[in-house]
Amino acid sequence: MNILLLGSGGREHALAWKIAQSKKVDRLYIAPGNAGTSTVGQNVPLKADDFNGIKQFVLDNGIDMVVVGPEDPLVKGVYDFFKNDSQLKGIPVIGPSKQGAVLEGSKDFAKGFMQRHGIPTAAYRTFTGDTLEEGLRFLETLKAPYVLKADGLCAGKGVLILPTLDEARKELKEMLGGMFGTASSSVVIEEFLSGIECSVFVLTDGQHYKILPEAKDYKRIGEHDTGLNTGGMGSVSPVPFATSEWMQKVEDRIIRPTVEGLAEEGIDYKGFIFFGLINVDGDPMVIEYNVRMGDPETESVMLRIKSDLVDLLEGVARGDLDRRTLEIDGRSVVCVMLVSGGYPEAYEKGFPITGINEVTDSIVFHAGTALKDGQVVTNGGRVIAVSSYGQNKEEALKQSFEQAQKIRFEKKYFRSDIGQDL
Ligand code: AMP
Ligand code: GLY
Repeated sequence: MNILLLGSGGREHALAWKIAQSKKVDRLYIAPGNAGTSTVGQNVPLKADDFNGIKQFVLDNGIDMVVVGPEDPLVKGVYDFFKNDSQLKGIPVIGPSKQGAVLEGSKDFAKGFMQRHGIPTAAYRTFTGDTLEEGLRFLETLKAPYVLKADGLCAGKGVLILPTLDEARKELKEMLGGMFGTASSSVVIEEFLSGIECSVFVLTDGQHYKILPEAKDYKRIGEHDTGLNTGGMGSVSPVPFATSEWMQKVEDRIIRPTVEGLAEEGIDYKGFIFFGLINVDGDPMVIEYNVRMGDPETESVMLRIKSDLVDLLEGVARGDLDRRTLEIDGRSVVCVMLVSGGYPEAYEKGFPITGINEVTDSIVFHAGTALKDGQVVTNGGRVIAVSSYGQNKEEALKQSFEQAQKIRFEKKYFRSDIGQDL
């Protein structure tokens, strides 16, 4: 089978690494990919949302399946583009329809969906410019801190948590006044939930589902969760508080109602669902849905899947996921992300990266790298993920930490405490 994977980050390198291990795969292409994906497949110079370019490539290269890494092409309707094209409609796209992608693309839709299906989440109301006054009054009925969410996609920046009512009022006015463009022309205001977060992933064929290993990501730049939010500084899997009892609650209260709810609402969904959960006094609640895998969670999760991922993806495409097996590795995995100094604020690109070949017994995934005259150079804020197994998370962290020191580039920074708060 020939597979085309869309995307270019650490998540995509981890997916490509896992897909490339499958006996079912003849050729793996990644569009556009990065320096790391080119070591497990062939990069294709096409943007993940260049649907016409992708169509031509798929037809010219006998692609049998398209796997979508990031949300952007899904929200733009890549699934529907294939389904509605007479030449492409027989080629499965792993990812939801445009309608399904709205679970991530609109916070208001996601909250309404959860409400319709009795899925536990924070109480909320949605406001627009026309209902600003009501929004300001609603804020007064809540307790601090205040959670404001732009309805649409804002590259991870659309959620504000404000400590005081004054700040919340000011930000609500600014958001509805166009702070995030049309993405914040509607704003969800919700109750603040207190607890530890956990990312749970499923693969679904629209009817059946398989629960993949859960993970926790570390969003803050500084040790002990201090400083600015980033795209993710590392991840750990498994998550100790996600016991089988807790995961049973997640399945009964959240996963099954979600998959059934999508089917009931006639939403075509064959792909990954990412449940951003928070553990509130032992009960899981949904913070958000994403319609893709998490990054950097994937860089841990893929190591814990023992089964052939392509066999599972084939089950998604054919609707017989219930007949495929998912075997999980019982070991712990810790992923440590190496970032460019300055990130998540201004940082430089183009520094040569050395030492990758010296890494032993860990897996290196490229996130923001590029090849320049045959040399791997930094090309993003998050540069490289180092993922390692251990008999427990301490051992896995120690291994990732040691190997991370072998990789060298100017102004390298990483956290040494991934997984240690749990
Ligand atoms: P989101 O983009 O929805 O994932 O939100 C970004 C982050 O804001 C989440 O990962 C949480 O840490 C935090 N957050 C979002 N909603 C809430 C909430 N209702 N209560 C507490 N924290 C929240
Ligand atoms: N790690 C969080 C995300 O991928 O959105």
